[in-house]
Amino acid sequence: MPHPSPRVPRSGSVSRSPSSRSGVEPFYVMEVLKAAAERQRTHGDVIMLCAGQPSTPAPAAARARAVEVLDSEVLGYTEASGILPLRRAIAAYHERQSGIAVDPEDVVVFPGSSGAFSTLFLAAFDVGDRVVMTRPGYPAYRNTLQALGCEVIELDCGADTRFQPTVRQLEEVAAAYGTPAGLIVASPANPTGTIIDAAELAALARWCEANGCLLISDEIYHGLSYGRPTASAWETSREAVVVGSVSKYFSMTGWRVGWVLAPASLRRPLEVLTGNLNICPPAVAQHAALGSFTEQARVELDGHRARYAATRDLLIARLPEVGLRDYAPPDGAFYAWCDVGHLTQDSVSWCRDLLADCGVALTPGVDFDTVEGHRKVRLSFAGSTSEVAEALDRMAASPLLQP
Ligand SMILES: Cc1ncc(COP(=O)(O)O)c(C=O)c1O
Repeated sequence: MPHPSPRVPRSGSVSRSPSSRSGVEPFYVMEVLKAAAERQRTHGDVIMLCAGQPSTPAPAAARARAVEVLDSEVLGYTEASGILPLRRAIAAYHERQSGIAVDPEDVVVFPGSSGAFSTLFLAAFDVGDRVVMTRPGYPAYRNTLQALGCEVIELDCGADTRFQPTVRQLEEVAAAYGTPAGLIVASPANPTGTIIDAAELAALARWCEANGCLLISDEIYHGLSYGRPTASAWETSREAVVVGSVSKYFSMTGWRVGWVLAPASLRRPLEVLTGNLNICPPAVAQHAALGSFTEQARVELDGHRARYAATRDLLIARLPEVGLRDYAPPDGAFYAWCDVGHLTQDSVSWCRDLLADCGVALTPGVDFDTVEGHRKVRLSFAGSTSEVAEALDRMAASPLLQP
């Protein structure tokens, strides 16, 4: 006899509770965003320094492609791993950036790098596998891995290593728990903006390859660095996975296109899983993304980077003036990870109070650091230089920044 689905609510039926795996941490920044929207409605004066995204649109060449294909293409499903011209463009981009040979067959395209991470974790790890990441670090790694039944080991990474992991730390993990199944490195990183030393990344890649630990190198902020070189994990090991995205340097967050360079053993599992989970990345966005790899787009996007660099210089000059002297070196991306421990031990309330006091929205550190985040805030300088200058003026005048 067929059973009625227990998940379909019917009068008199017992509704099932959500899965225990879905009980992951929310993003606390959402609270700030909600409060910021309310403040904007009542005061109209909010400066958003909490968004981890460019304030600029997609490059003109990408928007032109989108318009063109809307009129000329059916835009149905594409190949699960992405259209060949886009995989070719991505391969050529990595060759140019890192001087490494990349075949379009190495590239699998996803709905954003977020889509790549969840599919990759499924393809690479089993329930109970241990995966290592940094603390502070990008919270979605931890939350997604936990939802998939993996055990996350956070490495306490401090200013002495630019908040980046080391081979010594990995060896300590291996001695305590056995070789982990994976390691995630992000450089430039979110929330710190720091770049890992090229030699340390190479050493990590060699250690991972020698020990059968999957190195996942999140390189989505490549292209946004301010003098310190960025290395790719594929310069050392083709057993690593490199993750990329059009969201940051390419200024196309909402278009949802990301990719991986996958080792041969993972290509087919990734293709099969993404075919089942996503069918394909969004067709119009794939065509538009092709435009973002053109020379015309590069000139435009390098202009954004020059603006971020100018804003970063302004911040470095003025953060001490507002009393924020202890912050991670903003090597890349568009973040300043600041210590506010002399002002508060509750960064969530402090961010809420700062917003109420002067309309400046920052991100409380608790999203990124489960231990020290209560005394940290992340300031995003992806907006305009004049907005950041105005935010600093307001912060300098706020009683919340007087110790
Ligand atoms: C380090 C890092 N990785 C991955 C992502 C996800 O980016 P997307 O899914 O837009 O490619 C983000 C977004 O902020 C991030 O900061």
